[in-house]
Amino acid sequence: MLALVMLATLASAALAARRDWTGTAACGACHPKELAAWQATPHANTRSRFEGKPQAACLGCHGTGDAPAGAAIAVEVGCEACHGAGAAYAEDDLMRDKPVAVALGMVDLAQPSIRTAVCNGCHVRRTKNRPFDPSVSPHPVPSVKP
Ligand code: HEC
Ligand code: HEC
Ligand code: HEC
Ligand code: HEC
Repeated sequence: MLALVMLATLASAALAARRDWTGTAACGACHPKELAAWQATPHANTRSRFEGKPQAACLGCHGTGDAPAGAAIAVEVGCEACHGAGAAYAEDDLMRDKPVAVALGMVDLAQPSIRTAVCNGCHVRRTKNRPFDPSVSPHPVPSVKP
């Protein structure tokens, strides 16, 4: 228990650094169905909105990583933009134990208040002319609950 508390403290101690992100391909290697579903969404394809390198201000929402305070790792709303920087938790044995994965930085999106806060961090005021519902699945996989 003490070890978990210490892990949680370490995970939240600092802004994530470049090495804290694994990138979408690494997540997708173990989660191919979610990867395939995500690839069909605007989150995966937002690169096409920009000619050249987007401004840091845009990458805060159209990228994954630490922009605008730090660097983006990709011009996409990748897995870790919602699930949290994954280098510390993205291992098979850790991921099977949800409390441990959460202590290591995985965001607990099963909690409606957390999920809404994550979506709204980018969607509040930006989602114009369309109803926005944070409870919709951002990568619907057949046979998996949303
Ligand atoms: C080495 C394989 C592996 C990698 C890499 C991996 N995962 Fe997992 N993940 C698992 C396993 C195993 C489980 C638990 C069984 C399951 O639900 O499929 C899991 C479960 C999950 C869950 C469900 C957690 C829950 O209990 O609600 C999420 C969300 C998730 N992974 C996201 C990610 C993300 C995001 C990344 C990249 C940062 C990632 N995974 C990388 C193997 C992996
Ligand atoms: C890191 C910022 C970010 C987060 C977090 C985020 N989104 Fe998005 N989302 C975007 C951006 C940017 C777009 C527009 C991409 C484009 O069209 O180029 C988008 C587009 C969408 C769309 C498509 C809208 C359309 O044009 O049809 C849906 C649906 C959506 N997001 C749902 C969600 C949900 C649900 C969550 C939370 C579980 C979420 N998003 C979290 C940035 C984010
Ligand atoms: C826009 C936000 C967002 C993005 C981007 C995103 N996810 Fe998710 N993901 C969610 C939400 C919300 C859930 C549902 C969480 C819950 O209810 O426990 C979820 C659930 C999952 C689960 C649990 C099983 C399932 O399918 O419901 C896995 C595994 C997972 N995501 C992996 C990934 C991977 C891999 C990527 C990148 C290819 C990714 N996610 C991208 C928001 C996101
Ligand atoms: C606070 C988060 C956020 C920031 C910052 C942001 N965007 Fe977006 N952007 C979004 C979301 C969310 C959507 C999807 C809107 C929707 O579904 O209606 C979007 C959609 C877009 C679109 C699609 C057309 C539209 O308006 O729906 C373009 C183009 C775009 N953004 C460009 C930019 C540029 C350029 C910047 C930087 C100057 C930027 N965005 C900054 C969140 C953001």
